[in-house]
Parts: sequence; structure tokens; C-alpha cells
Amino acid sequence: MPWTHNRAGPFCPHVSSVVDAPSSNVMSFSMAGAVRARSAGTSSAGAQGASVPFAEDVKAGLSASPKRLLPKYFYDDLGSTLFDAICLLPEYYLTRAEDEILDRHAREIVDAVGSPLDLVELGSGSAIKTRRIISAALESQPTLRYSPIDISPSALNASSEALSREYPNVTVDGIAAEYLEGLKSISRNGSVRTMVLFLGSNIGNFEPHDAVNTLRAVHDVLNDGDALLLGADLKKDRAVLEAAYDDAEGVTAAFNLNILARINRELGGEFDIKKFAHRALYNDALGRVEMHIVSREAQTVRIAGLGMEIHFDRGETIHTESSYKYDRARLADLAGLTGFELTNTWNDTRGMFSSNLLRAIKPLSTDVYHHVGRKRDP
Ligand code: TRP
Repeated sequence: MPWTHNRAGPFCPHVSSVVDAPSSNVMSFSMAGAVRARSAGTSSAGAQGASVPFAEDVKAGLSASPKRLLPKYFYDDLGSTLFDAICLLPEYYLTRAEDEILDRHAREIVDAVGSPLDLVELGSGSAIKTRRIISAALESQPTLRYSPIDISPSALNASSEALSREYPNVTVDGIAAEYLEGLKSISRNGSVRTMVLFLGSNIGNFEPHDAVNTLRAVHDVLNDGDALLLGADLKKDRAVLEAAYDDAEGVTAAFNLNILARINRELGGEFDIKKFAHRALYNDALGRVEMHIVSREAQTVRIAGLGMEIHFDRGETIHTESSYKYDRARLADLAGLTGFELTNTWNDTRGMFSSNLLRAIKPLSTDVYHHVGRKRDP
């Protein structure tokens, strides 16, 4: 299995984050680039330095059987940069496919929602894809408020400041927080529509019931007629999917293994990274790519900061992430379960990826209960 040393990649069109617990910091970036900081909720778990939740989650995950680590911990500064590099890989078609869709249809998407609108983004888009929507919106309204929510303060800071500089008519209100916490602190302007962007394959990283909970939390902050633009990778040939998550140069391997390096850096772990391998497998029955870290040999690893030693059998795995693949029926189900109606779907020309416009319907339609009764997961 290929493996390379961690190395920083170039600029990426999208910074992704995956969350499942409350936190954190809220920062605002005004047009002039000034940074205003307000606090949202509990403790701050910044991208740098050990945090209590990280230590606790690592301890619990590596004590569990089978072992697991939470995907949100991929995105420290190095991890965010490695993910930027993944977006440029020939095998990782997702970013380019979505960008093609937004390049062709941004105008249509904005028109379908109606302007003026405010934009909120989950997992701050650092570049091209978000800019396509911003540019399209500015064709029909003179100014725009954009509130990106991201778990990585440094990624958020960099992208927010760049956007503020580039678009003098855009007010960037960056929120450094996990999604659910960040959503609670966005300020609503009652007279304009809100469109929430949830791009990339972020939704795919949620287990089905967490995807439902997250979209319900989005729905909660929206008014009737507001919209969610949801990126979703589509089910397809196993070989194409597995290559996208296990590229020939080993960048994805470095990204996955960086979570062990992060434990070394922040928790005094003694993982010898070379003794672990990256594995990505498509689980057809569950419709998801599963990412694992595999122990190449039997070994015991000390983590000083946790005061524990972890034993690995040869071939034992740590499950680090799943990436669920969707089809239109599943997306329509997900919309129905969360108070939305799936009104439009755009695919790229190769039919690899979909951008979906979900319209908020209030109150949750009774159909929701029908769906819940019929089926537990979307
Ligand atoms: N959101 C991305 C996806 O599911 C995350 C991702 C891409 C990822 N490559 C990865 C996560 C490799 C773990 C390992 O497409």
C-alpha cells in the first residue's frame, strides 16, 4: 500500500470539517479585515495544542473494540492542508465534478432560491466553488453577507480574509465552531432569504442518523422558502471509489495517518507511523467507503499524555471515517425526513456527483412521520 511522508499541498478549493459535538470559538471578520471575537458555548478546542475532548475521545476510541478515531480530528492545520492537496488529486474527482456543476449552474441555483440572500457555509469553502455562488449572487444584489462555519480557526481565518479582500461588497462573518454550535450563533436577517451551502462530500461523512440530525439542525435555523445546497457523491463503480480514497501518490494515506501523528504531537503518543498503513474499501451493502488505519505488525504503543499503552494485533484496524454515497431516492428521503423538499438536482457531465437544492418547508410535513415509521435511516 502506498505511503508518503506528510507534506503540505497547495491551495484547495474546499476545506471540509466533520463534527459531532458542541464547542467553541466564534470569530467575525469584517470587510476591513478586522477580527472580532465572540464566544459561543463552552470551551475552545482550537486547531493547535491538546484539548480535553481530543484526549478523551482518543482514549475512548482506542480502548473500544473495534478501535476507532473520530474524523473531525483529521482537520488540524496539517490535516486541513493535506485535505487541500487531496482535492487536487487526479483520483479525487469529487471537487472537480462539483466545481463543474457550480460553474455551469450557479446563476440558476441563486435564481431558484431568489435574492436578496444571505449565505451560510458549513465547512468554510476557501475558494473556487464558494466564489462561484458569491459571484452569481452579486449579479442580482449589490451586497452579500457570508457566514462560513469551520472547525479550523486558521483555515477559516485565511479564507475569510482573502474573500473580504477580493469582494469589497461581501461582509464575511466567520464562525470558528463545530457545525451545530455555529448554526446556533448565526444571526438571521428576517427580510432576506438564507441559503446554506453544505458542499463537497461532507454529508457523506455522517452516519445516516447523524445526517438526519444535522439537516434538522440546519432546518431549525431556516425560514420557509430558505434553501440548502447539498453536495452528495453518487454511488458508482467500486474501483473508481476506492481509487478516490487511496491515491497512487499516497496523499490520502498521509492524510489518514496524520491523525496518529497528531496524537504524537499533542498527546505525547509514540506511534511509529511507518508501522501503520492506510486502507480504503467500498462496502457495497452499506453504500459507503470505509477508511481504516491498519497495524502492519503486532505492537504496543505508549501515549504518555493519556497514561496508557495500546496493543495492536497484526492486521488490526482503527476505523477513522466512512464516506456514504448517495442516489437520488436516498437524497429525497433525507430531505423528507428533515423538513425539506428536494426541488432540483444537478449532476456533472460524467454523472459522478450531485448538487441538490433542498427547500425548507415549515412546519415539518406530516410525511416526515410516515417516513420515520417506514424506515429508520434515510
Ligand atoms: N469529505 C471527504 C470525503 O468523504 C473526506 C475525505 C476525503 C477523507 N478523502 C479522505 C476522509 C480520506 C478520510 C480519508 O470525500
